[in-house]
Amino acid sequence: MPPGRDLGAPAVILIGFMGAGKTSVGRALGERLGWSFEDLDERIERRERRKVPEIFRESGELEFRRAEHATLRELLQELRAGARRVVALGGGAFAQERNARLLEASGVPIVFLDAGVEELWERCRAQADEHEVERPLRGNRQTFGELYAVRRQHYLKASFRQETGGKTVKKIVAEVIQALGLERRGRRGEKQ
Ligand code: S3P
Repeated sequence: MPPGRDLGAPAVILIGFMGAGKTSVGRALGERLGWSFEDLDERIERRERRKVPEIFRESGELEFRRAEHATLRELLQELRAGARRVVALGGGAFAQERNARLLEASGVPIVFLDAGVEELWERCRAQADEHEVERPLRGNRQTFGELYAVRRQHYLKASFRQETGGKTVKKIVAEVIQALGLERRGRRGEKQ
């Protein structure tokens, strides 16, 4: 999808690898636009009544992907009904072909938040050490890098790639807003 094709859509979807900042950027972007923010993993947890690491431990990745796909379908129905929202997806969601197809067909702008693999690894390591953030697929530095290389090919199909390396959340939000032309819209999403 070429950058900015769907500027009229009153929603933005953030994708990217673990540690890309999808949740923190998504929350800040939602606040800036006056749109609600939703994290797909949190919605999966509410639906399944289990935390993501528990789903992986008890039922395996395949079951997690099934729940992820069903939850994404439900969410896209709401966006179709006109909900104004910034949505952050888990790192593996867009790498699943059936999810990518659904997302691309939705016409909602998809923003790939990117950073160098070393920085992504460091952010995940710090979040694990300081905030006990558990990521079932983080693995070790080598498997993390290998998974990133595979996933990146998928992420590059997004509407556009936003570099996040060394940038503050505030700066990233400002750049996404400018790239999508969202500053020209009011808090309800209308052109001003
Ligand atoms: C996953 C990333 C996680 C979460 C799940 C699977 C992945 O989300 O969806 O553990 O496959 O990369 P974050 O990208 O928010 O860590």
